[in-house]
Amino acid sequence: MSLLQEFRPGQVWLDTAGNPIQAHGGGVLYHAGTYYWYGENKDVDNETVIQEIEGRPTPVVRRRVPVQGVSCYTSTDLYNWTHAGIVLPAVPDDPDHDLHPTKVLERPKVLYCAATRQFVMWFHADSADYKAACAGVAVADSPTGPFRYLGCFRPNDGMSRDMTLFLDDDGQAYHIAASEDNRTLHVALLTEDFLRPAGPFSRIFVDQSREAPAWFKHNGRYFMVSSGCTGWAPNEAEYAVADTPFGPWSTLGNPCVGPGAERTFEGQSTHVLPIHGQPGRFILMLDQWNP
Ligand code: GAL
Repeated sequence: MSLLQEFRPGQVWLDTAGNPIQAHGGGVLYHAGTYYWYGENKDVDNETVIQEIEGRPTPVVRRRVPVQGVSCYTSTDLYNWTHAGIVLPAVPDDPDHDLHPTKVLERPKVLYCAATRQFVMWFHADSADYKAACAGVAVADSPTGPFRYLGCFRPNDGMSRDMTLFLDDDGQAYHIAASEDNRTLHVALLTEDFLRPAGPFSRIFVDQSREAPAWFKHNGRYFMVSSGCTGWAPNEAEYAVADTPFGPWSTLGNPCVGPGAERTFEGQSTHVLPIHGQPGRFILMLDQWNP
């Protein structure tokens, strides 16, 4: 395949082997000259489950695919991405495992922890009915894995669904997640090894039902893009600014402009990617879900 010179938002994007990029709900890590794009691999058909409807066993197609695991793609130019494989695979042979295909694994994000020289992945880990509302953690010695699953829990004893990670310039890392039945976001400072909440946390956007948080920093201030709470259906994005990660946060309205802006171009935020070597330039990454 010839090298790509551009990418086309909203269209299927092929990797260097000619296959559609499978990195949904993703996030990008820049490390030692390479971009690593992690995301949900959904390269499988929707699952059909048998449900009792009006007293009869009826096949129902689920609105999501069975968990395959987290894919990683590498690039140096942001156009051409090479699949480095599934770096955290599902665990099909143990129905009780958090990574069993019937469970939920969404929005994986990876940071490099300089203190431990490990690559630390957090993701939304959930039961099939989304009631467990936990965060899962995995670690690796190399950015392309393999990642070792450490387990899942509720950070600061709070529910944790849509989530992201943020690494500040001072080396402090934060976990940001939709908590309290998706009504309020929690921002939790992480321990030095990035594996656990360190204690201090803040409730932000209280009772505002913000989801899909994506954070970035510009000129010393913190910015968040998020979506409203309408499941897989698109809605209007909002962005906000704060002087510290814990807030207070001020909303700035819809960051999108042009045709389709009122439904975020049919997308939902997952990550804001700062372009290395070009201060002040960012790419907002969105998923167009097709459940
Ligand atoms: C969305 C969320 C997705 C997924 C979906 C399930 O609001 O952003 O990541 O969890 O709900 O309905």
